[in-house]
Amino acid sequence: MWSSRLAFILAASGSAVGLGNIWKFPYITGENGGGAFVLVYLLCIALIGMPIMIAEVMIGRRGGRSPINSLRMLTQRDGLSSRWTWIGWLGITASFLILSFYSVIGGWALSYVGQSAGGIFTGSNADSIGALFGGLLSDPWTLLIWHSVFMVLVITIVAGGIRSGMEKAINILMPILFILLLVMVGYALSSGDFAQGFAFLFQPDFSKLTTEGVLTALGHAFFTLSLGMGVMMAYGSYLPKNVSIVKTAVAVSVVDTAVALLAGLAIFPLVFANGLEPGSGPGLIFQTLPLAFGQMTGGVLFGTLFFALLVVAAVTSAISLLEPVVEWLEEQKGIGRLSGTLIGGISIWVLGLFTILSFNEWADVHPLNFIPVFENKTIFDLLDYVTANLMMPLGGLFIAIFVGWFMNKQAIENQLDIHNGFGFKIFMFILRFITPAAVATVFIYNLI
Ligand code: TRP
Repeated sequence: MWSSRLAFILAASGSAVGLGNIWKFPYITGENGGGAFVLVYLLCIALIGMPIMIAEVMIGRRGGRSPINSLRMLTQRDGLSSRWTWIGWLGITASFLILSFYSVIGGWALSYVGQSAGGIFTGSNADSIGALFGGLLSDPWTLLIWHSVFMVLVITIVAGGIRSGMEKAINILMPILFILLLVMVGYALSSGDFAQGFAFLFQPDFSKLTTEGVLTALGHAFFTLSLGMGVMMAYGSYLPKNVSIVKTAVAVSVVDTAVALLAGLAIFPLVFANGLEPGSGPGLIFQTLPLAFGQMTGGVLFGTLFFALLVVAAVTSAISLLEPVVEWLEEQKGIGRLSGTLIGGISIWVLGLFTILSFNEWADVHPLNFIPVFENKTIFDLLDYVTANLMMPLGGLFIAIFVGWFMNKQAIENQLDIHNGFGFKIFMFILRFITPAAVATVFIYNLI
């Protein structure tokens, strides 16, 4: 059991806050034209993400076990089909695929810790920073080393069961990351083109929004909150009965969104002040923040600390991605903790090689070009697209339908402690109609 509500919020935020907030959110916002995309993303968080998080935590707390077993228990108790446990399988597969590329990006952050500490950014300009990043991407061996270091870190923590010690450390490190982000926003305010960056993020221009952009926003709402794959069910199973699920889910969502918006506010003023391209893709933060670290006083220290904390945030999320895979190997295949972690971790590491090659040797390989929605996508793009834009929303859809239409109503009321009041009706309405309709519409539009 979590010692308190706060402990749960910190742990769930540890999973939620990661590369999704600081690396992915700014670059997909840049690619999708800014304001209108951000607005859709915020709506997705509030209207779809938060209700699904509540639903997941609730399933986990009522079931009290690992996601698949919680689902199995609930379906048995309520006399439902055992097929609902497939949500759990979907989640394990998605975790496996996500971690394979997540680790490669975590490796980029690791390599930037060293670059920062070595003072490489000092006195640099947009061109030299761009070249530095381009050099990293074009070199599969360096990427391989950092990807390996990242996976070793994650495997060691998951295998060693040293999570409780780690959780204490996270509780100190995450607030520091938050403060550093504020420092970066302060720098952007004083030295960047803050007005333009702010307008880019918050002034919606709907002519820039595409249907794929809407799907990306929806998928990212799931990705950034660690939803649709049972991770929040796992955390929910440790939540004490007297804690309000609704309040906690709202708190986690707010923290997560705040981190993403702060990252955007730190990055876009620099993008515009330095004449960079907002839609330049996955390298965006690695090509903008180093400029700030190269110019500001104490930049070597701030830069090193920032990338180190980004690694910590990435590792804490990565743990929550490896854990379900290991748990599955342990429960279903009877493999021990250490072997399970090694088998899972090494398989994921191998799959990561495909992502590494997507940035250099195989940059022009688009294996599913014959399918329109997958056109021009590298293997990395495909892994990202299939997990975030298809698997997670699908998992979320099933969770919404399960709780909205099938789960025992009395149990839901008890879990949420909002007995048939107005809030309860809204919650059920969202899960029954809004979420399924939204996910289905966005899916159909994109597939057609
Ligand atoms: N939410 C994390 C991020 O934003 C990524 C992540 C960790 C995740 N665990 C997850 C996403 C489980 C989906 C499901 O970086």
